[in-house]
Amino acid sequence: MKEESSIGKISPRVELESIRNYMTPYHQAKALFDLLAERPASANISHSTMPTWDEHKAFISSCPYHRWFLIVADDRYVGACYHGHNNELGIAILQQYQRRGIARIALQMLMEHPPKPALPGSRPGHYVANIAPGNVASMRLFRALGFGDYQVTLAKRS
Ligand SMILES: CC(C)(COP(=O)(O)OP(=O)(O)OC[C@H]1O[C@@H](n2cnc3c(N)ncnc32)[C@H](O)[C@@H]1OP(=O)(O)O)[C@@H](O)C(=O)NCCC(=O)NCCS
Repeated sequence: MKEESSIGKISPRVELESIRNYMTPYHQAKALFDLLAERPASANISHSTMPTWDEHKAFISSCPYHRWFLIVADDRYVGACYHGHNNELGIAILQQYQRRGIARIALQMLMEHPPKPALPGSRPGHYVANIAPGNVASMRLFRALGFGDYQVTLAKRS
């Protein structure tokens, strides 16, 4: 984990490019696959193994998120972020582009759009971030954006 701070660095120009769930162009699917391949185990909650290319394409086609974007900086894909159906946010940045303030800017852009309204019993009316317990970088990132403790989820894995 890098410990360098982004404070004092020039903010990069960040753009969000919408991911097409149907007829997804190869370059979008490949960029998402490359991100998954370098994702550290400490960041994973719901899966721990790398999907096959076909599984990956099927996942994209399943419309897994409410809004889903590739993050563009320096005219390159450097990460991806999403707003899930239950207002959960997720983000990943390629290692070589981390600690430049890109995740912070991308999440701020994502949250310019309001969260979906609350659905009693299933969806909060505000944004949430589900973070694996050891993922210090992500916790610090979301806390820096004003997120605070909301819920503790325990799992019984048999
Ligand atoms: C978490 C992650 C998205 C951060 O992306 P990033 O572009 O490097 O983050 P930023 O440069 O915008 O950092 C913003 C703040 O987050 C915190 N932060 C980010 N990376 C950190 C790290 N490695 N260690 C400690 N704090 C970190 C800091 O408070 C930082 O502010 P600072 O640089 O002024 O100190 C990136 O490390 C990543 O992709 N990790 C793997 C995937 C993942 O864990 N996703 C989150 C699951 S929801």
